[in-house]
Amino acid sequence: MRASAVAQPNIALIKYWGKQNIAGNIPAVGSLSITLESLETRMTVEFDNEIGADELLVNGEPAPHLLPRVSQCLDHLLGPGRSRAAIESTYNFPIAAGLASSASSFAALVVAASKAAGFQADTLSLARTAGRASGSAARSLYGGFVELRLHEQEIEVETILDAVDWPLRVIVAITAEGEKPISSGDAMNLSAETSPFFPAWVKHQDQDLRTARAAVDDRNFTALAEVSEHNCLKMHSVMWASRPPVVYWNKATLACMETVRQLQKEGVPVFFTIDAGPQVKAVCLPDAAERVLGSLQATSGVLDTMQSSLGTGARLVNNP
Ligand code: PMV
Repeated sequence: MRASAVAQPNIALIKYWGKQNIAGNIPAVGSLSITLESLETRMTVEFDNEIGADELLVNGEPAPHLLPRVSQCLDHLLGPGRSRAAIESTYNFPIAAGLASSASSFAALVVAASKAAGFQADTLSLARTAGRASGSAARSLYGGFVELRLHEQEIEVETILDAVDWPLRVIVAITAEGEKPISSGDAMNLSAETSPFFPAWVKHQDQDLRTARAAVDDRNFTALAEVSEHNCLKMHSVMWASRPPVVYWNKATLACMETVRQLQKEGVPVFFTIDAGPQVKAVCLPDAAERVLGSLQATSGVLDTMQSSLGTGARLVNNP
């Protein structure tokens, strides 16, 4: 009745922004991501009807404001008649700051909860359940380069290339700590309703996905860099043109983009991507990692940096 799982966040290179079905949380567009290795969420779930209601501890502290989404995910996984659950999660990185903590959280949750409940489910069904809670979480069930496709109102997710076959590095520059002004879910619904650029975003996504998939197949870093930065800036343009505007960037976010641009001019194989938060993720070839790290550390306004290789999908671990 008790099980633990670990999952890592993933970073989308071709982004998910907007839903075609809000109730089922089905994305409006496909996406392509890389799963990280060293940023980690550990979830322990214990089903126990002796407790009066579901309980959630986040890094050792009760987190009642996060509980409803977690309980709802367990209801979707096991049905509303399920036993009550005590859930504990721990993170080795800041949460709710645009580092995809919801992706690793719900991926680890469905893996731990299905085991604790003795419920047999394949990875795709678990990914679909995690994806109802957080669209990007579906991708953290898988490792390496992951593609999420839409097929008849459902998602299909698979690893298109293993991490070992193209071992890129990711350097995360933290430019602000604390919770973001608006959740990604609320912000993308606002974009879909109010941004005049949203239909164009949806229309061009398949072309970006095709380009990125080909770049991954060919291990063509230059092509992947070009389409990833384009897709990221396009998503942020959709956000900026929403009413009211959704702006997650700060001065240091722009300074980091400038640092990456300068490195590119000097021939360093690196590109940036930014999600629903102010942090900048620089993706590079392994030999460039130390240089990229040093440059981002020296960038004005950067509070901290983290480095990660690419990792595997969510998995069970021994109980603590
Ligand atoms: O899965 P959510 O609801 O947290 O949305 C994720 C949105 C982005 O991180 C901005 C893009 C993506 O594909 O991960």
